[in-house]
Amino acid sequence: MRISGAKNSALKLMAACVLAEGTHVLSNVPDIADVQLMAGVLEALGMTVRRGDGGVTEIVRDVPLQPEAPYELVEQMRASTAVLGPLLAAVGEARVAMPGGDDFGARPIDMHLRGLEALGAAFELDHGVIHGRTDGLRGAEIVLDYPSVGATENLLMAAVLAEGHTVITNAAREPEIADLAAFLNRMGARVVGAGSARIDIDGVAGLRAVSHAVVPDRLEVATFLAALGVAGGELRLTHSRPDHLELLIDRMGAMGIRVSPDGDGLWAMRRARPRPVDVATLPYPGLATDVLPLLVAVLCFADGTSFATENVFAGRFGYVGELARMGAHIKVEDHHLVIDGVEQLSGAPVRAPDIRAGAALVVAALGAEGETVVLNGEHIDRGYESFDRKLRAVGADVERLADDTDGR
Ligand code: EPZ
Repeated sequence: MRISGAKNSALKLMAACVLAEGTHVLSNVPDIADVQLMAGVLEALGMTVRRGDGGVTEIVRDVPLQPEAPYELVEQMRASTAVLGPLLAAVGEARVAMPGGDDFGARPIDMHLRGLEALGAAFELDHGVIHGRTDGLRGAEIVLDYPSVGATENLLMAAVLAEGHTVITNAAREPEIADLAAFLNRMGARVVGAGSARIDIDGVAGLRAVSHAVVPDRLEVATFLAALGVAGGELRLTHSRPDHLELLIDRMGAMGIRVSPDGDGLWAMRRARPRPVDVATLPYPGLATDVLPLLVAVLCFADGTSFATENVFAGRFGYVGELARMGAHIKVEDHHLVIDGVEQLSGAPVRAPDIRAGAALVVAALGAEGETVVLNGEHIDRGYESFDRKLRAVGADVERLADDTDGR
């Protein structure tokens, strides 16, 4: 089964296209709702986005930019704030609606703004819109309080056109950051150290439009490995990067799910009932917060008690009540879960609270007796390309139901 390009890279690569005039060509871009939303943001700025076949997307900047990302798009997708740094760097001004909270609770962007201020931008909040201006960004030494993915990316995209040298310390190290830096360097930027905790950037006078292939989606890989963890059997996932999932593969090994590199992807197998393990999320190379709902879905079937800890997003347990509706035994203790595995869950109507939790409910349903209906499936479509078709391709009995009045 072919893994798609990573949502969490594609969205930032699209935002980075703001930095240079001309036609950029991105390939391996997943066909998902969030990519369409980011295309809408770029079109609101005055750019043109043309999606071709096979995940090839052309992004054209050939007219003066309107530096405003509208509220109706930002409130649907926080990642719209990724245009803040590129706009300030490219045209010295940015108006981006202040993103509200979402399913995970408060998700401030204070580190983005503080870092951009250090680079020479000034901000004011104007009726819910962040209005940033600069008469020219200048390199700076920035130390992040926390290795925030979004802040690292926004500062990186701003610093590549800033005058002088910038250092980002305690930077996020996710593979999507390295993918963004590779794209920026292909455009003519001078970024060193992406993927490590220290990134050095020497600003350049200008960048050019180029082509780039989006890195494979490690979170989609994790989702299909979790599906295997619940349903058992064997799986080959092509166009994937097992080296981006070392800790997950280690944890899966402890659960009895064997995973090994295979050609341009990986092979995996599960025979016996999963074993219980303890898992805790941390910034990369720690276990990604996005895979925890998927692991918890597998551990609901484990032969014993597991402990799961969420350290990145305080309020990310919206799926626990839905799993309990299917008969899972999970106790919530602050940001910890105690999961007593059961032989089988039972099918039930459940509601997806967000992208990864929605996928986790579908994964759990693969091991449930009877039918499960996952409502608010649009959350899943935000982050997964043809999820139902791909699951059927590996043997799952999954069907997409037409929308109806209650959003089914
Ligand atoms: C990115 O979100 C991903 N989204 C998330 O994936 C992922 O869960 C997250 O990184 C962590 O890996 C995209 O790339 C589009 P952060 P981001 O800034 O950038 C706090 C998915 O399902 N923080 O690393 O928003 C923040 O509240 C999504 O694909 C501040 O306090 O994450 C959180 O607790 C969900 N102030 C922590 O840092 C700031 O200025 C990590 O956030 C920035 C962040």
